[in-house]
Amino acid sequence: MIKKGKKLYEGKAKILYAAPEKGTAIQHFKDDATAFNNQKKATIEGKGILNNRISEHILSSLNQIGIQTHLIKRINMREQLIKLVEIIPIEFVIRNIATGSLTKRLAIEEGTVLEKPLLEFCYKNDSLGDPLIAREHIYAFNYCDVTTLNFITKQCFRINDFLQGMFKGIGIKLVDFKLEFGIARKDQANSLNDKILLADEISPDTCRLWDSASEKKLDKDIFRKDLGSLIEGYQEVARRLDILHEQSNVRPIKFSRPTAVKIKKK
Ligand code: TMP
Ligand code: ASP
Repeated sequence: MIKKGKKLYEGKAKILYAAPEKGTAIQHFKDDATAFNNQKKATIEGKGILNNRISEHILSSLNQIGIQTHLIKRINMREQLIKLVEIIPIEFVIRNIATGSLTKRLAIEEGTVLEKPLLEFCYKNDSLGDPLIAREHIYAFNYCDVTTLNFITKQCFRINDFLQGMFKGIGIKLVDFKLEFGIARKDQANSLNDKILLADEISPDTCRLWDSASEKKLDKDIFRKDLGSLIEGYQEVARRLDILHEQSNVRPIKFSRPTAVKIKKK
């Protein structure tokens, strides 16, 4: 068991604790859900467990195609051991289909399929409501340097390509999502690829995921817009990703018909 140290940081959906090994931390997924910059809040039992599993699966899959991430390993139902990074204060939003703030900001019709993926930068600052910023603001206020931003931009499009394909294979449209990156400690990193790590989480909290056929929402919009059971949506994503095997505290998915159990003959 990895001994949890003192609390380093508490965000809206996660807590970061110190871990025994230098340069590492424990990321704990809470059941808390917030929307519209904390104006709407709830505790949704089991959400943290599902996000821990889904994010572990997605970050490990990305690691297999050469994207370096902060994830070391999942250590229990709600926690993962991660490399401690200094988070770059930018939220990288990648959009494939117009919805959410994009449709409001520029009066783009909801559901418009974008000709090519659109990358937006938001300044990560809750009290300002994570405002949209331009590349020029990033340089002017030194949020990150040109080389780092160019590297991350390429990573964002690679991640989008991979995830779009992965979700398409399980009947889900990746509408948009948000990424965060961090800088690893210098003594752990030799190249840019070792230094700039994909951090935070990728889960239905940070993506918009629509069922390909029905366009039913399977992400945090269920909570934002009161569309029904958030847990059922997240469980559906986990089930399609084939990661709902182990016993969890989350109520099992309700199947409309009992599933047949095949008994192998010897
Ligand atoms: P938006 O349409 O509200 O700007 O959201 C774009 C995407 O970014 C959507 O997938 C949700 C995600 N997102 C976060 O993960 N955290 C946030 O704080 C915000 C505003 C959006
Ligand atoms: N994560 C942000 C909040 O908590 C915005 C959102 O996801 O809607 O308020």
